Amino acid sequence: MNTFLATHILRYALLARHKRGHGIHSPYVYNLIRSVFIDTTEYSEYALIEAERKKLLHNSDFISVVDLGAGSHSLQTKYRKISDIASSSVSPRKYAQLLYRLIRYSGASRILELGTSLGISGTYMALANTKARCISLEGDNQIAAIARNTAANCKCTNVDIRVGHFNETLTTALQDLGEVDFVFIDGNHQKQATVEYFETILPYCNEHTILVFDDIYWSLGMMEAWEYIQACEQVSISIDICKLGLIFFRKGIIKQHFVIRY
Ligand SMILES: C[S@@+](CC[C@H](N)C(=O)[O-])C[C@H]1O[C@@H](n2cnc3c(N)ncnc32)[C@H](O)[C@@H]1O
Repeated sequence: MNTFLATHILRYALLARHKRGHGIHSPYVYNLIRSVFIDTTEYSEYALIEAERKKLLHNSDFISVVDLGAGSHSLQTKYRKISDIASSSVSPRKYAQLLYRLIRYSGASRILELGTSLGISGTYMALANTKARCISLEGDNQIAAIARNTAANCKCTNVDIRVGHFNETLTTALQDLGEVDFVFIDGNHQKQATVEYFETILPYCNEHTILVFDDIYWSLGMMEAWEYIQACEQVSISIDICKLGLIFFRKGIIKQHFVIRY
């Protein structure tokens, strides 16, 4: 990690508010923290999905991967071991479970994911509301096949995994969903691409939509993309939890940015 990023992560650590919500004056954000962020309930789906993660973490098969994104900080080769993908490219339990609880809490029923990988976060999101329609986009065919298997093993039937470059699949997915209630943007961590995905998704958002951006401190470019998105006129609340950035469009509240320890 370079000094610049280290400085920003240190800044995050200094600015971050208490993880239980003390000192947060926005009732909406306070309730979100109390009901979602610090909810320690072990929902039954957690064990099911974590058992799949464990299998993937022990899978020593190699696959040949087509990486259409910014690549990985740790995996640079075309031939990748499934266990390595599972340990380096998949959302850690803590964050995947936060996505699950955000969807449960908000009741999101039109869910989109950019970046399926092995299907862990997609399965979490789809099982958070089994009545929801969930579309997850992935560039690599073999990875998508593993993700479908992950979902099937968890008896998850409401996630539709589509293969192709986001530039080719995103607009159709948005049109198919009509509007989106929840979007997890977790692929191609480059400034320009991230801003473009945001702008493509924006017309499909409503007052209750939640957007979650992964790895907002991954690079200088990602930090700039996050700052650009936060500043967008339609955005009313943004929450920085260091690994993830959350965006809300709720109306009738003063625009505010929160940095919260998670
Ligand atoms: C970080 S992983 C996603 C992890 C997954 N969301 C999870 O937490 O379980 C990012 C995935 O996005 C895919 N990807 C990156 N850029 C892409 C692009 N431009 N089009 C399609 N897929 C892309 C990669 O193949 C990779 O599998």
